Amino acid sequence: MKVYRNHSLKDHNTFGMDVRCTQFVVMEHPDEGEALYAAHLFEAPFHILGGGSNVLFTKDFAGTIIHPAFKGIEVMDDSNTNQLIRVAAGEEWDDVINYCLRHRLYGLENLVGIPGRAGSAPVQNIGAYGVEVKDCIDRVEGFRTDNLQPFVLSAEQCKFGYRDSIFKNEMRGKCLITHVWFQLSKKEHYTLTYKALANEINDQDLSLETVTQCILRIRNSKLPDIRKIGCAGSFFKNPVVPESQYRMLLAQHPDLVSYPAADGMVKLAAGQLIEKAGWKGKRIGNAGVYPQQALVVVNYGGASPEEIQHLYQQVILDVEKLFNIRLNPEVNIL
Ligand code: EPU
Repeated sequence: MKVYRNHSLKDHNTFGMDVRCTQFVVMEHPDEGEALYAAHLFEAPFHILGGGSNVLFTKDFAGTIIHPAFKGIEVMDDSNTNQLIRVAAGEEWDDVINYCLRHRLYGLENLVGIPGRAGSAPVQNIGAYGVEVKDCIDRVEGFRTDNLQPFVLSAEQCKFGYRDSIFKNEMRGKCLITHVWFQLSKKEHYTLTYKALANEINDQDLSLETVTQCILRIRNSKLPDIRKIGCAGSFFKNPVVPESQYRMLLAQHPDLVSYPAADGMVKLAAGQLIEKAGWKGKRIGNAGVYPQQALVVVNYGGASPEEIQHLYQQVILDVEKLFNIRLNPEVNIL
């Protein structure tokens, strides 16, 4: 492992917040958990950071940032119809997608282009274009940070929901994910339920390449290039409201976008609510709401954590005033 003191996190968060941590530990092997435990690192404030693509640091982090960097993709089972792979937490998410493309494995292709590391994917159950990562997760492996006990959780035990899992609830701050197992199909099949994707594909021949290229085109047209503009993807979750509230809102806003959610609830598009509240493309200083996708809060360069916080809190207040819905951040705010 490598340990750095008083380390800058600027290059470790896609929002580009210029903050520091007391200690930054790069884990090069999952077994290094033992040394971290023996050094009592898990008893003081710590945070496990993957690619830093879903976090907003609002101040310096007074504690240890643990960055699992170990890589590897192992084949655990290989039949005529499926391949089961075990992916180390430090693998770049897009390298997992590239592995699937190279080996003609189906299931994860709609999740191409999502920044981050494999170990973070189950935490918030990453999702895009009609697919959620839970659809292909077989199990999640790691250790508890309070007693170093290893755990293996089946997909069901992970309690996946919309941008949610056990790792954001009961197990929050109590575990380190070392590996994620994916069950992938060798049988050619695609998920084309997302309308813009079906439109983009149009009459092209279907293949993993066509689908991933179309998705990357859609992503590039709506989401900023994080190498140029700081952001953490969708800043807010799409809110889920009772049917009765949806009906009331629909009477005032007949064009309201909605999707059926669990237990008879209705999911609304936060981007549309933010746009209707007048925030799409608005900028205050170096912080702004992205002009092509109102769900995305951006750092146009040099924005301070205070500027970003001020902006997103104003967005929450204005959406609440107009719709009586309180948006919840999707990003982890530290
Ligand atoms: N909309 C607007 N204005 C906007 C943005 C969206 O009116 O500024 C409307 C769109 O017209 C559309 C609806 O809202 O009818 C939904 O928009 P979109 O399909 O772009 O998806 P989203 O709900 O805004 C979610 C995910 C994205 C993911 C896309 C595509 C969340 C929080 N976000 O966004 O995930 O890429 O679907 O599947 O669920 C991320 O999590 O970081 C992320 C980018």
